[in-house]
Amino acid sequence: MNTSLLHPQALAEPSRDCPLCPRLQDFRNLWREKEPEWFNAPVPTFLPPEGAASVRLLIVGLAPGLRGANRTGRPFTGDYAGDLLYSTLIRFGLARGQFLARPDDGLELVRTAITNAVRCVPPENKPTPAEINTCRQFLTSTIESMPNLSAIVTLGAIAHQSTVKALGRRLAVMPFKHAGRYQTDALTLFSSYHCSRYNTNTGVLTQDMFLSVFNEIAAFLTDPA
Ligand code: URA
Repeated sequence: MNTSLLHPQALAEPSRDCPLCPRLQDFRNLWREKEPEWFNAPVPTFLPPEGAASVRLLIVGLAPGLRGANRTGRPFTGDYAGDLLYSTLIRFGLARGQFLARPDDGLELVRTAITNAVRCVPPENKPTPAEINTCRQFLTSTIESMPNLSAIVTLGAIAHQSTVKALGRRLAVMPFKHAGRYQTDALTLFSSYHCSRYNTNTGVLTQDMFLSVFNEIAAFLTDPA
């Protein structure tokens, strides 16, 4: 990780027809037939206009929602989870413009990027452990392509666990918890419950809890000491 921070790698995205997870490939092909106008492909990382080198904060979600990112092609765009995420990012100056839940809404991220632990939509929002492990190469490459990255926030346990593994750390010393904060050599890792409709409807995650995590992240980015 340290050497790659000195020599950032190009961001490697899965191909549109990525064959690495047969179950996800079948599911994608099914939806290509049902909804040919949808994106229906691995959803790439959403970067700020200045590119990967400008990114200080990386947000890691779980996987594209079927009618959200899988339909629109932009992470957290088109389903409920994005409403809370993007309104929070705008509030803390991590995004600018208007979020209209469409990839052509002109919304820009500010030194922030958004990616998913698994790039393809999984049936019932549940990737298998093998799919999470297989897709981690793209998460690793995403992190390694960001030489100025100083913080990562993971949304939910799966995103957290895959990110800890991508960083080569042990889960036993960095367990998932809401409002967690861990330090590695080069990065500060924040963790939050996922901003899904299920979590907010059941009160597992309130808007105040989510804002409080981003308040801490914004304070860290202003003064990383
Ligand atoms: N949309 C995404 O892109 N990721 C999630 O984790 C949820 C919705």
